[in-house]
Amino acid sequence: MLYFSQPSTRTFLSFHSACQILGMKTVEVRDTATSSEMKGETQEDSIRTFSSFADVIIMRSAVGGLAEKMAWVLSHTERPVPIVNAGSGKDQHPTQALLDIYTLQRSFERRGGIDGKTIVFVGDLARGRTVRSLASLLTLYRGVTQVFVAPPPLQIKEDILERLRQAGAAFEIGSDFERAIPKADAIYMTRIQDEWDETRGESSRIDLPRFSFTADRLRLLRPAAVVLHPLPRRQEIAVEIDRDPRAVYWRQVRNGMWIRVALLASIFECFEAIRRYPRA
Ligand code: NCD
Repeated sequence: MLYFSQPSTRTFLSFHSACQILGMKTVEVRDTATSSEMKGETQEDSIRTFSSFADVIIMRSAVGGLAEKMAWVLSHTERPVPIVNAGSGKDQHPTQALLDIYTLQRSFERRGGIDGKTIVFVGDLARGRTVRSLASLLTLYRGVTQVFVAPPPLQIKEDILERLRQAGAAFEIGSDFERAIPKADAIYMTRIQDEWDETRGESSRIDLPRFSFTADRLRLLRPAAVVLHPLPRRQEIAVEIDRDPRAVYWRQVRNGMWIRVALLASIFECFEAIRRYPRA
């Protein structure tokens, strides 16, 4: 069951493609205006209903923590099907973090992997859930330094910094992008998440060019560094940069499909069956 009540292009299509690759059938709800939530059904009851028709529920929601809450709800029913969080509010996007880690791992495969690398995050780090998930996952690697570059109102939140401190992970906080570029092994760009603005237009006061990767800034980037972005992008990465071999954000999209194939195969414990599957 693909239950996506918030806009999505890549995450939805990559999960959908991943299901097809594995020979799984899919049902989807993308528009709650056409479901019983419009009649006042609670999300708990909707999820219980979905669990009757599916063996896994992949869900995206604008509500932080909702996927986790629903997993807890289902775990107390007779059909505790797994829930995969495909993005929850401003909170978490764990499968994006997996594909980001996979992309970093492949990028650094001949340079000792992710251990010891410096990852620079740029943009809206307060409301960008992909950054929050990836920053947490990176604490599992040794000697990684995370640098958070953002306008002060959009700087990474204290809960993530506390998690980094608890894990003994090194980090720096700043707002000078040009100074951060030369020390990066990877730069993770993000867009301003203005759909979360509390007062109209508060994001428009941000000095965007200061947090944008323009073509002239490529000269500051190390030859072996890589540039990531969860997409969709706006003006924070100039399109000319797409042609630079250090830009890996289009590869991330493709990796997203394969990491989701791997995740579903792992949920249903079918790695052996895949290995034995006759080659066409
Ligand atoms: C991100 C998201 O939805 O959080 N997109 C994605 O899944 N690749 C990033 C964003 O919307 O800016």
